[in-house]
Amino acid sequence: MKKDAKTVLVTGGAGFLGSHLIDRLLGAGHEVLCVDNLFTGSKRNIEHLYGHPRLEFMRHDVTMPLYVEVDEIYNLACPASPVHYQHDPVQTTKTSVHGAINMLGLAKRVGAKILQASTSEVYGDPAVHPQPESYWGNVNPIGPRSCYDEGKRCAETLFFDYHRQHKLRTKVVRIFNTYGPRMHPNDGRVVSNFIVQALRGEDITLYGDGQQTRSFCYVDDLITAMMRMMENTPEDFPGPVNIGNPGEFTIRELAEIVIELVGSRSRLVFHPLPADDPKQRRPDIDLAKRLLDWEPKVALREGLVETIAYFRAVLLDEGPRVVLPAAPALRSGAEAAPIATATLAAVRRASGESLRRQAREMPATAKPSTTT
Ligand SMILES: NC(=O)c1ccc[n+]([C@@H]2O[C@H](COP(=O)([O-])OP(=O)(O)OC[C@H]3O[C@@H](n4cnc5c(N)ncnc54)[C@H](O)[C@@H]3O)[C@@H](O)[C@H]2O)c1
Repeated sequence: MKKDAKTVLVTGGAGFLGSHLIDRLLGAGHEVLCVDNLFTGSKRNIEHLYGHPRLEFMRHDVTMPLYVEVDEIYNLACPASPVHYQHDPVQTTKTSVHGAINMLGLAKRVGAKILQASTSEVYGDPAVHPQPESYWGNVNPIGPRSCYDEGKRCAETLFFDYHRQHKLRTKVVRIFNTYGPRMHPNDGRVVSNFIVQALRGEDITLYGDGQQTRSFCYVDDLITAMMRMMENTPEDFPGPVNIGNPGEFTIRELAEIVIELVGSRSRLVFHPLPADDPKQRRPDIDLAKRLLDWEPKVALREGLVETIAYFRAVLLDEGPRVVLPAAPALRSGAEAAPIATATLAAVRRASGESLRRQAREMPATAKPSTTT
């Protein structure tokens, strides 16, 4: 173990963001304890790390207390997509609130520094654009998204009260839409929905008129910022800090770029907007720029190419209803590789060969319900 290496707990470590964070923490020489109840995560996201001498996996629900010795805690456990967090809204609130209480209690007992993965959803349907950290938000406390939005807001409250009352070293980052390899193919989030629909040659579902905007941050950029917040900010600075990509795209633009990069013949179809769906969401990242010396580096098209390659691989052996367009769009300048080569390389890069089974085995709850 490196001299300055720490023992780091990552809750939700078998999820999309958690598994990328673990890759980076192990790469930096730390010991990692991955805690996950595998509700939306998958062991396949960390399968490529099996046997790693500095990684331990523990199946555990964060709504229950946890007694371990660690130096730092990244609290990511929580279903993040509307189809998942609305599946059992009571459990979603419990995961955010009881999970935060349990992890903060653990941090207090062992003197660990702790970071909360909060969300841009704390701003609700914002009346201020772009959203700075000082904006208090416009959140419906009783709607179908409230279990997530209000759960995360309450978790932030707990983090700040533990900081003020118990002098805990707490950090809160507010994450805006993030995408990349290892997203759940059936999570109903807009990037995964569009890519999967385009790869299957299905109609691409847009909600409303498709003019609502989102900003999309590539996962590598996000993880860099999250780790800088934990490691490079003053011990007594709790945040919150927005992390996201301020580049703003309409949902329709995103659909058109995905169709072009996939080389798909999919058509756009329009459905009514779901309840409480925000019309615009864009981070103000001035604080992150100043404090973390950070801004996103990966352009949307570049990140989408990686993500499309990943999903292409995941869907490859799903069966006859999969239509994979013949010309995969690669990074500009790269020569078009045969699908098998491009996709298998993507799978290995992402998280191991058996990831391709993921799409087949996932619950068929994937009726897209939102543009998040
Ligand atoms: N991906 C994004 O765009 C985004 C945006 C804002 C905030 N976030 C936050 O980042 C975190 C990670 O999101 P993600 O996109 O990786 O989602 P994800 O669903 O892939 O990962 C969440 C992980 O938490 C685990 N989990 C859920 N409930 C649990 C519980 N009670 N006990 C233990 N483990 C539990 C799941 O099994 C999963 O592995 C979440 O807290 C989410 O709210 C993500």
